[in-house]
Amino acid sequence: MDILGAGLILAARATPHDLSIFHPESPAGSAIANLSILVLVITSGILLIVGGVLMYCVLRFRTTSVDGIEPPQVYGSIPIEVAWTAAPAMIVFILILVTTRTLWEVEIPKPSSTPGDDALFVTVVGRQWWWEYQYEQYNGKELAFVTANELHMPVSESGRPRRVHLTLKSDDVCHSFWVPRLGGKTDLIPGRVSTMWLQTERPGLYLGQCAEFCGEQHANMLLRVVAESPDAFDAWLEKEAASAKTTSTEAVAQGRELFQKLSCVNCHSVRGTSADGTNGPDLTHVMRRATLASGQIVNSPENLRSWIADPQKIKRGSLMPNFGLSQLQLDHIMAYLESLD
Ligand code: CUA
Repeated sequence: MDILGAGLILAARATPHDLSIFHPESPAGSAIANLSILVLVITSGILLIVGGVLMYCVLRFRTTSVDGIEPPQVYGSIPIEVAWTAAPAMIVFILILVTTRTLWEVEIPKPSSTPGDDALFVTVVGRQWWWEYQYEQYNGKELAFVTANELHMPVSESGRPRRVHLTLKSDDVCHSFWVPRLGGKTDLIPGRVSTMWLQTERPGLYLGQCAEFCGEQHANMLLRVVAESPDAFDAWLEKEAASAKTTSTEAVAQGRELFQKLSCVNCHSVRGTSADGTNGPDLTHVMRRATLASGQIVNSPENLRSWIADPQKIKRGSLMPNFGLSQLQLDHIMAYLESLD
C-alpha cells in the first residue's frame, strides 16, 4: 500500500460526517465556535431572565377582577428605564468588540507565495453543481493543474503551520464554500473574488456543503476536503500534477478515440491529450477521486457507468446530457476512464 492509500485509510477513520461548528479543527473554526458559544450563553441568559420575569409576573399578579377595576399602573420609573436601556447597550457593545476581534482572526490577508512558506494556494471555482480546484503554488513552487470536487491539503504541525489560501470565484451563480469544522462560510460571487484560508493539524476527511442556494442541485453540491500528512500530500501532488498515462491496451485506445469523437472533449480535459474542454470537471486522474458528481455518489465502476449512461437520472439538471450510448460504446468509454488513475 502506498502513502496515499495509508492517508485515505487514516481519513476514513476520522469522523467525516461530523458537520458541527462546535467541533472545530482549525484556528478560524475555533474562533467562530468560541464566538458562537459566547453569543449563545449571553442570549440564553437574556431569554431566561426575560422569560422568567414574564412568567413570574403572569402567575404572581394574575387577577380575576370581578369589579372591572384595573390594578394601579406604573409610568415613567427612571431607574427602570435607565437599567433596560443601559444593560442592552452594554451587551451589544461587548458583542461588537468580540465579533470584531473574531473577524480579525478569521480574515487574514492573502500573502504571496514564497519558497519555504509551506503555504498552498488554490483557486476554487463554483460551478452548477460542482467545485473546480485550480492548484497554483505550494511552498513557492508553481503548480499548474486542475482537479474537481476533492480538495487535498497538507496538515500543519504545531509551530509549523501549512496554510491553504483559497481564492474563490464563481462561473455562474452565487455559491458558498462551507466546511463547518474548518471555518466559516465564504461566498463565491460572479464577477467578484473572495479569499479564505484553511489550516488544520488533524488529518482526516472534512465534509461540507454549498451554503448558498444555487439552483436545482444546490443540496447535492457537496464539499470534501482531505487533510493529509505532508508526505502523503506530496505524493498526491506529484501524481495529480502528472499528465494522463500514455501506455494503453487496445480497449483503452478505442475508448480514448470514442471519447474524442463523442464531444466529451468539448467539456472535459485530460492533460496530455487533445481533450481540453473546461465546462466540466478535469478527468486526468478521475479514478483517484473517491466520489463522483460532487460527492453525491461513490466512484465505483458501476456508478461511473450509470453516470455516463444517464447523468440526468443521478443529478437532474446537470449540464452533462444523456448521450444515448450503446452498451459497447459504454464499455469502451469505461475502459478509457478506468485507465485515468
Ligand atoms: Cu452551489 Cu448552492
